[in-house]
Amino acid sequence: MREYHYDYATTLDGIMDAAQCALLVERINALIDAGQVKLVDHEGRGTDAVCDTGGRYLHHIFEGDDVRRHLPELMAVYRAILPLVAAVTSQEAVLSPYPRSDVNIKVYPPGGGTLGEHYDTNGITVLLFLTDNREAPLRMQIPRAHPSRGAWVERRTIHARAGTLLVMKGREVLHDCEPTMSEQKISVVLNYYVRGDTWRHASFDDFVYDGVAPA
Ligand SMILES: [Fe+2]
Repeated sequence: MREYHYDYATTLDGIMDAAQCALLVERINALIDAGQVKLVDHEGRGTDAVCDTGGRYLHHIFEGDDVRRHLPELMAVYRAILPLVAAVTSQEAVLSPYPRSDVNIKVYPPGGGTLGEHYDTNGITVLLFLTDNREAPLRMQIPRAHPSRGAWVERRTIHARAGTLLVMKGREVLHDCEPTMSEQKISVVLNYYVRGDTWRHASFDDFVYDGVAPA
């Protein structure tokens, strides 16, 4: 809780064991190989309207219905850890009312898989990493301020570890994913909101999923 509140992110190891993660990765890759999963590939289309600085996006994406159909156990994880997310964040966390984006999987291919700098729209950001990576960390730009020196940005990186859960204040921290080089990186995105605030920008899904530039 201290890390979440003061460092804007915390990690919880061992939410899923390594063998279970490896099995899910196998099934995810089989679905991608079978052409069942969409590739997101766009650059320079993000704007302030969707809290994005216009970077590159390159990864396969399982949308909510893909997860429900092919990896339903991840929907169970999403529901089961709601009390944990509420406890860590001290928030009245609620599940997403948006079926397209409640649970997604982002699969960054080796050789340039990435995600541009942005703020998240939902109040509580949770990722479950399915791979161990020595490259392509999550990069955070943490806003800091102190009366002795004014405001500055602290940069921090977090490498994926299979089975580890990341809980982050994604609305307050500008963040991106450093491009992959030789490794594949897979993150399950678990989108939670706070009671009374389930706002989501109207053009957001068309931008993140389809690369349609916001008006
Ligand atoms: Fe994000």
